[in-house]
Amino acid sequence: MTLLLEISVVGERAGRYIGALTILERDPVLMQSCELTVVIPTYNERDNIAPLIQRLAHALKGIAWQAVFVDDNSPDGTADTIKAMAACDPRILCLKRVGRRGLAGAVLEGALASAAPFVGVIDADLQHDETVLPQMLASLKSGEADLAIGSRFLTSSGPEKGLTPFRKAGSRLANILARAVLKVEVSDPVSGFFMIRRGLIETVAPDLTNDGFKILFDIIASQRSPPRIREFPYVFAERQAGHSKMDERVIIEYLGLILTKLTGNLLPTRFLMFAMVGLGGVAVHMAVLYSGRAAGLHFIISQGVAAMTAMTTNFLVNNSVTYRDRRLRGMKLLTGYLRFCALCGVGLIANVAVANLVHEHTPLWWLAGAAGAASGAAWNYVSTSVAVW
Ligand code: GDD
Ligand code: MN
Repeated sequence: MTLLLEISVVGERAGRYIGALTILERDPVLMQSCELTVVIPTYNERDNIAPLIQRLAHALKGIAWQAVFVDDNSPDGTADTIKAMAACDPRILCLKRVGRRGLAGAVLEGALASAAPFVGVIDADLQHDETVLPQMLASLKSGEADLAIGSRFLTSSGPEKGLTPFRKAGSRLANILARAVLKVEVSDPVSGFFMIRRGLIETVAPDLTNDGFKILFDIIASQRSPPRIREFPYVFAERQAGHSKMDERVIIEYLGLILTKLTGNLLPTRFLMFAMVGLGGVAVHMAVLYSGRAAGLHFIISQGVAAMTAMTTNFLVNNSVTYRDRRLRGMKLLTGYLRFCALCGVGLIANVAVANLVHEHTPLWWLAGAAGAASGAAWNYVSTSVAVW
């Protein structure tokens, strides 16, 4: 129990002071240690903050909770709105990150700031059903589960309202891929709505990726032994205000993460993203080569133009997707581009040299070709990650 006390001197007798002890305050908030930290990642969610806090306070009555908002310096001033509310409600905290973006990293930092035994994660846009939180907490507290997941797929309607048909199909595919990698049966492993014993996040924190949306998938995949999971159906609501931040980059990051886990963490997600962009570059190359030939250009000219185009698009896509957190702009974009071209030129030489070497020892031309391509890709990745981004 925490009391605020005041000691004051009320008199003096025979050289000794006589004091009085006053109880100033029994603060009900301080008297209970926090049991649940609700982490809420935000980016441009200004208009959703007040209704969310109101809903949380209502749903979590009787529970000692705190809300940790993690805002990536939203241009719409979300952090100011949160701080205005935090100024008069000690349960609210705002972690403002500057110069950084990323849902997974934001959730992780919020969770690591917690000292409570349980950590819940919920989106700020009111798409998740906060009234499920007490049931989630009860299942963790009773020891029945280590991880409680809000699932969009356990209700008869599924995520009808909250997702467009394209997002719905993508979400189902993402779930199928995730289930192929995870050793546990979960209906919504990419859910952004869950609650977990704090220790389970802290032990795997160094292994988690900071990019992308799939923090839950990453947490489950990184556990040494499969966690006990309980899923809770809820209806995925429509977004109230603002816009979704899910885009092509998030999807490429996700595929990279799935591949990283499929290779037993051998190949880093960034390398796999780089390789995927490279494969896209091959398609660009072939398309330009085809058009050049169709336009009657000489083969050598067409091939040269195709290679330069593919290298340029690869650079631009890597700059805005693979290395979006270290994105080059202005003059640095130009010098980075020149460096990228020079290093990829060296990569091409390495590619041909290795392929030739392997070919001398085996009649399998495709093996030699693949070995060359793999070494070229590895060189391009390592060298550009050091010298360009
Ligand atoms: N701090 C921070 N930084 N927060 C972010 C960022 C970021 O870069 N990007 C998104 N958020 C916050 C949003 O403000 C919102 O509160 C929450 O993360 C979810 O973002 P949305 O953009 O609304 O995601 P969604 O509705 O498209 O995707 C939902 O469904 C996915 C499964 O399909 C989310 O719940 C995802 O977590 C989930 O994986
Ligand atoms: Mn949303």
